[in-house]
Amino acid sequence: MAAPYQLLFVCLGNICRSPSAENIMNHLIQQAGLEGSIQCDSAGTAGYHVGAKPDRRMTMAANDHGIEMRGQARMFEAADLETFDLILAMDHSNYRNILALDPAGNSAHKVKMMCSFCREYSDQEVPDPYYGGADGFDYVIRLLMDACEGLLEAIAQEQNLPYARD
Ligand code: 4NP
Repeated sequence: MAAPYQLLFVCLGNICRSPSAENIMNHLIQQAGLEGSIQCDSAGTAGYHVGAKPDRRMTMAANDHGIEMRGQARMFEAADLETFDLILAMDHSNYRNILALDPAGNSAHKVKMMCSFCREYSDQEVPDPYYGGADGFDYVIRLLMDACEGLLEAIAQEQNLPYARD
């Protein structure tokens, strides 16, 4: 059997957007019965919250949409560029910070913007909800659900995995 496809979601603190993306994606992967074929992780480009659980406000918003939040913050590192098959940046600043660890550009082809997989939303970035109100957290979950559905379909197609959208 082929090695699982390795996905990494990256934001700034790894306590709001990227853990949400990771847990939403795991939820969809499980629903599709593709646990053995795709694996997810997340990381932050800053170290402010290393070791912390996902933000409580983010967890509440995720739970409202039936998503459990698991994980502990860690920092993105250069080795991740080798380990992962696809790295998803939540905003343009994350994208630049990821590529700053790849000066030769060897892994640049693996780094994509999360919103490039959206099908319903036209946002270019997943907005940072940290300093805003509850609406911002709910919006992040809705936006990421759209992006994760598009992402799963794209990977399933590319990797020839069985996936039927309902
Ligand atoms: P995240 O949100 O990048 O989606 O995890 C943030 C978390 C913490 C901070 C900023 C954004 N902070 O400045 O501490």
